[in-house]
This record gives sequence, structure tokens and C-alpha cells, in this order.
Amino acid sequence: MTSQSLTPRQKVDLPALQSPGTFDSSQWLKYFEENRKVRPALRLPNEIVLEEAVQAPLIRSLQRFQIGETGEGHHLRKYAKKYGDPNYAKCVDLFIKEEQSHAQVLSQVILSMNGSLLTWHWTDLAFIALRRVLHLKTELLIILIAEVIGKCFYKYLADNVAYKPLEEVFSLIVLDEIMHLKFHTEFLSEKLNGYPWLVKHFVHYIWCLIFYTACFAFVADHKKALSALGVTSGDFIATCSKTFHVKATRALGL
Ligand SMILES: [Fe+2]
Ligand SMILES: [Fe+2]
Repeated sequence: MTSQSLTPRQKVDLPALQSPGTFDSSQWLKYFEENRKVRPALRLPNEIVLEEAVQAPLIRSLQRFQIGETGEGHHLRKYAKKYGDPNYAKCVDLFIKEEQSHAQVLSQVILSMNGSLLTWHWTDLAFIALRRVLHLKTELLIILIAEVIGKCFYKYLADNVAYKPLEEVFSLIVLDEIMHLKFHTEFLSEKLNGYPWLVKHFVHYIWCLIFYTACFAFVADHKKALSALGVTSGDFIATCSKTFHVKATRALGL
């Protein structure tokens, strides 16, 4: 077994909470560059054996997350470039690289648990299709839903998996996901700030509809893993819902 405990991540200067409509891409670029530099090298045990009732459902769920984190982000990169702020385009590039690093970590975890990697899954295709419907803002609204669900799931994993090396892996991913949520929320807040009140409420309504649909689909698909972690579907939806509403109301300035 070649296990090595992760060294705690060095302090990264986090972008200060800005007032709505004041997204600072240079500050975010600094954050993403720093975060990349201090990312700890990860070495997991060659073999991870959890309780039988936990291992199989966890592999099944992680396989789906691994696929979701794998994307090259061509579409998002293209729109970020078109947006006309080189710093923002660089941030998006580093954001995608962080997601890919999560995919890499997850694939290590899955293989150590004696699982195999998927090449595709319908939930990933559904998210990609939805994200591409319109343009950058729409894509970010959908990404934010995936980030909320991902962050909440990883947090439950970190808290409830009861296996130290995995707790550390998932805690580090959670830290990244918290900042991804903040990054997209602050950008959307800047972009949506000037929308008329009625439009904001309409966007909020549609956004909530998609969010709850995604959330219910998620708990149906990941029921066994949630149950293995001791989390009820209701608790999971309530946790996601709380995070989502904080982010959505901030992004829309409601
Ligand atoms: Fe991620
Ligand atoms: Fe993320």
C-alpha cells in the first residue's frame, strides 16, 4: 500500500466578497493561478476496500461524477473568449483544468476501489445539451446547478465516508467547488445586475424549475450511494436547495 497523507493546502488568497456588479477577473485569475500552484500531490492507497454496502454504490456514483468532471469545456472556452476579457478567458481555462484534475483524482479513487471508468453517461449528455441551448450566461446558469449538486455530494462524502484518505480527497475537492460556485455567482451577478426586475424573476423561476428537476433526477440516480452515506433524499435536496437559493438570489440581485 503506497498511502500518503495529503499535506494541507497552503493558504491561498481568496477574492474578497464583492458587491453585486463588481466582478474582478484579475483578482480571480490570481486566485486560480495560486490554487494551481499549491495543489498537493495526491497518492492514494493502491487498493481501497470499504464496507460492502458502501463500496459498490459509491463506485457507481463516482463513475458518473468522473465523467461529468472530464469535459474539455470547448463550448465554455469559446464563449469566454468571445466575452472579450482575456483575464476572464484565462480564469475559465484554469477552472476547466481544476475540474479535469478532479476527474483525474476520481479516476484514481475508482480504480483503487477496483471499479472501471465510464466512457459516457446520459446525465452528462443531458447537462451538455442544456448548457449549449443559448450562450455564456445560460451555460453558467446550468453549470452552477451542477456545481451546487457536486459540492453538496462531495461534502457528504467527505463527512460520512469514514475512510481517512478519501475524506481528505473529497475535502480538497469541496474547497475547489466552493470557490467555483463563488466564481460563477460573482460573474453572473455582474452580468445580470442590470436586468429588469420582471426578467430577473422570470429567470429565477425557470432556473428553479431546472434546478429541482436536476436535483430529483440526481437523488433518483444516486439513491443507493446517498443511503450508504446515511443521507436521505429529502436531506440531500434540502441541503442543495439552501445552497442554490443563496447563490441564485445573489446572482440575480433579488
Ligand atoms: Fe469538480
Ligand atoms: Fe466545480
